[in-house]
Amino acid sequence: MKRHQTKQLFFSVLIFCALLFSASSLFAAPMLSIDDCIKCHALQPNEIETAGAAHKEQINCLDCHVGHRPVSPDNIPACAQCHEGTEHYALSNCMSCHNPHQPLNVVLEGELKAECLTCHVEQNAQLVANPSMHTEVSCNFCHADTHGNIPDCTACHEPHSAEMVQKDCAVCHAAHQPTVLEYPDTTQNLLCAACHDTAYDQLLATPTKHRSVGCVECHASKHKTVPQCADCHGMPHAAGIHAKFPQCGDCHNTAHDLNNLSK
Ligand code: HEC
Ligand code: HEC
Ligand code: HEC
Ligand code: HEC
Ligand code: HEC
Ligand code: HEC
Ligand code: HEC
Ligand code: HEC
Ligand code: HEC
Ligand code: HEC
Ligand code: HEC
Ligand code: HEC
Repeated sequence: MKRHQTKQLFFSVLIFCALLFSASSLFAAPMLSIDDCIKCHALQPNEIETAGAAHKEQINCLDCHVGHRPVSPDNIPACAQCHEGTEHYALSNCMSCHNPHQPLNVVLEGELKAECLTCHVEQNAQLVANPSMHTEVSCNFCHADTHGNIPDCTACHEPHSAEMVQKDCAVCHAAHQPTVLEYPDTTQNLLCAACHDTAYDQLLATPTKHRSVGCVECHASKHKTVPQCADCHGMPHAAGIHAKFPQCGDCHNTAHDLNNLSK
């Protein structure tokens, strides 16, 4: 053997021994690098890769998992190690909603309200200020399964008429105060007709100029608002006539037909 061959063999043996040692000591000494994890754990690295969010961008496996069993039997971190100081981080059972390997894929189970209020106070303030059946249920009764889901009203309620569709609901109702019935001045007569077909039919049939006045021009903004004729017309006749017949309806019947007066 030449001298350099002897040296080569010596180093080969040394490298072999080193490999043998590191393999046998895999679980004896915490020498794992981040590239090792995937050799034995397929799921977590995959979840982090596809949906790790800040847990991928800003930290890695080893920031959370310090050491490895059997040397370090408990290498599961507490969230509070890195997240504390807000109302949200004071919740218990972080893992019931978050998977640390895909932290933003939040799963909502059970009946949740207090948990949501660590971030959304406005919606609950409306629910409480305007008590309705919606105040009685949990937030995820409607916003179910994953965070940010918004249901259609029609998933739980029939529209008031066959003509009415989901997008119409918001004209009169808001989800967190459903009994507060307010509507804009663009509201179509047909939407009111769902429940007031008599008024609708009368107005459609009258030959008078009220025919082209919208329901909500007279019944403005808030449901059950009833105007006075004088709001728009003042007292148009001689004072003596108004004194003798104080109700406009004495001669004009209702606003919806005006006795079908034609000039
Ligand atoms: C040689 C294979 C191997 C490698 C490499 C490996 N692990 Fe493990 N790991 C295991 C085995 C086996 C278990 C025990 C699984 C069980 O009991 O369910 C385990 C368990 C765990 C646990 C759960 C601990 C507990 O108490 O439940 C975590 C966390 C973990 N490994 C993280 C890592 C990380 C991070 C890496 C990379 C730095 C890594 N592992 C590399 C084989 C390995
Ligand atoms: C933000 C911190 C954090 C990061 C980063 C992180 N983990 Fe975890 N990991 C956890 C927590 C917390 C648990 C315990 C989850 C539980 O109990 O449901 C866990 C559990 C595990 C488990 C055990 C799974 C089981 O079902 O018992 C393994 C294996 C694991 N992680 C591997 C990894 C690997 C590999 C990486 C990097 C690709 C990684 N983790 C990145 C926090 C983290
Ligand atoms: C080793 C430190 C560390 C641990 C432990 C840790 N996190 Fe994080 N987490 C971070 C950092 C850093 C960020 C990004 C900055 C921030 O939002 O605070 C982050 C961000 C997040 C985000 C937002 C992700 C995004 O991209 O916006 C969620 C959700 C989260 N963590 C949940 C958890 C939960 C739940 C646990 C416990 C299972 C946990 N974290 C444990 C360090 C950690
Ligand atoms: C009831 C479910 C639930 C529980 C329990 C929960 N979270 Fe969250 N968390 C969420 C939701 C929903 C978000 C918003 C996610 C988004 O913006 O897409 C969030 C966001 C976060 C964020 C990123 C935004 C921020 O405000 O920093 C962090 C970090 C976080 N949670 C950590 C935790 C920790 C730590 C715990 C336990 C102390 C915890 N969460 C418990 C549902 C929950
Ligand atoms: C850690 C803070 C946090 C928690 C906890 C949280 N959210 Fe959110 N939520 C947010 C943020 C941030 C947004 C997006 C910002 C926005 O559009 O206002 C959001 C948006 C929403 C949206 C609107 C989505 C859209 O498309 O407009 C709904 C609905 C929602 N959250 C419901 C909930 C419910 C229900 C809970 C409790 C199960 C909850 N959130 C818990 C932070 C949180
Ligand atoms: C996940 C199901 C669900 C969704 C989505 C939902 N509701 Fe409800 N709502 C209910 C339940 C349950 C009640 C109580 C029983 C009933 O009246 O049917 C209720 C009651 C109501 C009431 C009567 C309230 C009271 O206290 O008298 C109104 C008005 C209402 N909902 C309107 C709406 C509108 C408008 C939407 C959409 C913005 C909507 N709801 C979305 C389930 C739902
Ligand atoms: C009866 C079903 C229902 C309940 C209960 C409910 N929501 Fe909503 N929420 C909706 C609907 C529907 C929307 C869409 C906006 C609308 O129609 O007014 C919405 C919108 C939201 C939004 C988006 C921003 C906004 O205000 O429009 C957030 C955030 C939200 N809800 C949070 C919550 C929280 C937090 C709770 C519990 C305190 C809750 N919701 C209870 C049905 C509901
Ligand atoms: C033009 C206004 C208007 C529109 C549009 C409208 N509503 Fe209503 N809704 C009302 C009024 C007014 C009441 C109250 C009736 C009463 O006092 O009995 C009501 C009551 C309700 C109620 C409780 C009473 C009942 O009938 O069970 C539910 C639920 C409801 N609406 C759901 C819806 C849904 C779903 C939509 C969309 C498909 C919708 N509403 C569209 C005006 C409207
Ligand atoms: C879901 C059915 C429903 C819808 C839609 C609806 N209403 Fe009503 N409305 C009612 C009920 C129920 C009453 C109470 C009737 C009673 O007291 O006899 C009522 C009463 C009224 C009253 C009478 C108030 C009083 O004190 O006499 C007016 C005016 C009225 N509605 C106008 C409207 C207008 C305008 C619209 C369209 C923007 C509309 N309504 C849509 C159900 C509805
Ligand atoms: C919101 C405003 C408003 C209210 C409230 C109102 N009207 Fe009118 N009315 C009008 C308008 C607009 C016209 C058409 C005027 C024009 O084109 O010259 C009109 C026209 C009339 C006419 C003439 C009809 C015709 O065809 O020539 C009579 C009569 C009348 N109104 C009576 C009444 C009576 C009675 C009441 C109460 C029961 C009443 N109005 C309530 C707005 C209103
Ligand atoms: C004694 C019956 C009587 C009473 C009471 C009465 N009206 Fe009249 N009104 C009439 C007659 C008849 C006409 C048609 C006159 C004409 O064609 O010149 C008329 C016409 C009108 C017109 C249309 C005027 C125009 O110039 O086009 C309006 C608006 C009107 N009335 C509003 C009212 C209002 C508002 C009240 C209550 C404050 C009222 N009226 C009370 C009998 C009455
Ligand atoms: C020109 C104004 C005006 C218009 C347009 C109008 N109303 Fe009225 N409405 C009134 C007045 C004023 C009353 C009170 C009774 C009266 O004096 O005629 C009333 C009464 C009502 C009432 C309660 C009494 C009843 O008849 O049941 C309902 C419901 C109603 N209106 C619904 C409607 C609907 C729905 C429309 C549209 C299709 C409509 N109104 C269009 C002025 C109007």
